[in-house]
Amino acid sequence: MNEIEQCKAFRNDKMNNAVLYSALAEIKKTPLLSEVYQELAAIETGHAKVWSNKLQQLGVKLLPLRPALRTRVLVWLAKRLGPEAVLQSMVSMENSGTRCYVSSTGDKKMAATEHSHALLLNQISSGTLGSLIPIFPYYLLEGINSIVVSAFLVAIGLIIIGAAISFF
Ligand SMILES: [Fe+2]
Repeated sequence: MNEIEQCKAFRNDKMNNAVLYSALAEIKKTPLLSEVYQELAAIETGHAKVWSNKLQQLGVKLLPLRPALRTRVLVWLAKRLGPEAVLQSMVSMENSGTRCYVSSTGDKKMAATEHSHALLLNQISSGTLGSLIPIFPYYLLEGINSIVVSAFLVAIGLIIIGAAISFF
């Protein structure tokens, strides 16, 4: 795959991810999760703009994108069965995005962001997000690697456990 094809593929992936997250934000009525999905959609849209700008620098005329069939199917499923039905597919997509960024571009910041998205989706899927850290601003995850995020989550967990022990 040449550079232009790679940039087009990245742009396409990010736009599709943004469409999915936007749909989940509309479906999910819980304010916290809706906000998380909105922030994820905004980050993916920002990444798509990076690739759009790169393509324009390479002299490529940008055409409007239509969501892929896979994206439309996942949105359809999420609307009927709930966002939880598609979370593991999205974790796979985010992990795939991480691998692609590392192998194709070496862009550690974007790779770390994609990895943090997968981590976040796993937390949502396991139900630990809302119970552990209900006020954490997830948009701050962009550019922060998963080790920092994990350390933060462990620290929050220890504080909660410590508070619970001292209460009793
Ligand atoms: Fe992502």
